[in-house]
Amino acid sequence: MELPRGDIRPAALPPGIRHLVRQLVSSSLVTPAKRIAVIPGDGIGREVIPEAVKVMLAAGAPVETTEFDWGASRYLSDAVTVPPGGFAMLEREFDAILVGAFGDPRIPTNIHAKEILLGMRFKMDLYANVRPVRVLDAALCPLKGVEARDVDFVVIRENTEGVYVDAGGTFKQGTEDEVAVQEDVNTRKGVERVIRYAFDYCEKNAKLDGGPRKRVLMSDKSNAMTYAGGLWQRVFREVSRDFPQIHAEHMYVDALCMQMVRDPRQFDVIVTNNMFGDIITDLAAGLQGGLGMAASGNVHPGKTSLFEPVHGSAPPIAGKNIANPMGAILTAAMMLNHLGLSREAADIEAAVLEAVRQGKTTGDIGGSLGTREVGNWVAGRLQKRERN
Ligand code: NAD
Ligand code: IPM
Ligand code: MN
Repeated sequence: MELPRGDIRPAALPPGIRHLVRQLVSSSLVTPAKRIAVIPGDGIGREVIPEAVKVMLAAGAPVETTEFDWGASRYLSDAVTVPPGGFAMLEREFDAILVGAFGDPRIPTNIHAKEILLGMRFKMDLYANVRPVRVLDAALCPLKGVEARDVDFVVIRENTEGVYVDAGGTFKQGTEDEVAVQEDVNTRKGVERVIRYAFDYCEKNAKLDGGPRKRVLMSDKSNAMTYAGGLWQRVFREVSRDFPQIHAEHMYVDALCMQMVRDPRQFDVIVTNNMFGDIITDLAAGLQGGLGMAASGNVHPGKTSLFEPVHGSAPPIAGKNIANPMGAILTAAMMLNHLGLSREAADIEAAVLEAVRQGKTTGDIGGSLGTREVGNWVAGRLQKRERN
């Protein structure tokens, strides 16, 4: 039988060979592992990311990791933040990127964080910063009377524009007449795509209890910042017409902060600009048990996306084996989900939940274990599950 070169359609083959091909295709031999670039970065990033990698492997996730030393120490030793061609290399050679945090007291300008982290977000055009807000266990939430199921919303933060473009300048610097201008850049395309992403997310992602998501809330400060706010308002109204089944609502960002603390049950999907998204997701992390519990992804559908815990490098607690690795571990689960490895992601989330329930946690959320010991516990739990 003559087959065209490269044609391995099972139907074109004799039955015995067809079976063999099916087996090969379904085995990990020909299902390529997902290629993950791992950049632990600075401070506690260097402690929590190894735990997240350990847990992914314990879950049996088909991943192949390559570590990069981009961060403060590298910058201090050879003045390189991102090597030439670094962003293109990440896009070309990896399916996703797992990052710790950047920030080091030895570099007060934070220039390396700007070039590496904001560099990836901006230059790789990762326009949707997706930050789920969930209370895994009621004991973690500082609010009275809040059950785990009550808090299940997601903040979609615009990630490539706003004040983060850092456009502006100073005039008469160092004199008493000094002027500092910091521009807030909002493009029609940028605003539209992130709002559309939020509606799509609402449509496609069920709540944790399996029920549908139904509401998208846009938050801004259009009563004071009328030009940018006006654009967000108009685009939000227009895009919402394409999703008649989703309830579109608006709240000023100051009122939103109050409501998030008074009654977080009311939120489903929140979309907002870069800076407001940064601020409200630290507030939201407070609901979840602190920054050590919060996960995030920087996404552009179809492109190599970047996953990182919400927290920073926390210099005062770095190097002490006390940082909470759960935010990083849940971030790894989020990344696996994004890559289609939903079984492994669900297993990791279940193991984290069990650790929280059994108090196998770090001190910030009430436990007495170290960073490594929490990672080991979660990994051990997954390995047991793998064997059974
Ligand atoms: P931070 O998130 O590092 O710390 C804020 C507070 O939360 C501190 O009290 C810290 O001890 C605590 N905390 C954070 N993560 C924790 C964890 N996993 N376990 C236990 N406690 C945790 O924010 P910061 O102090 O404002 O910033 C420190 C540095 O990190 C700065 O250089 C900042 O620019 C940088 N930063 C980087 C990122 C990032 O790379 N994604 C994010 C935020 C801040
Ligand atoms: C975050 C961080 C960054 C941000 C900093 C480090 C520039 O706070 O990821 O939330 O503001 O986006
Ligand atoms: Mn932040």
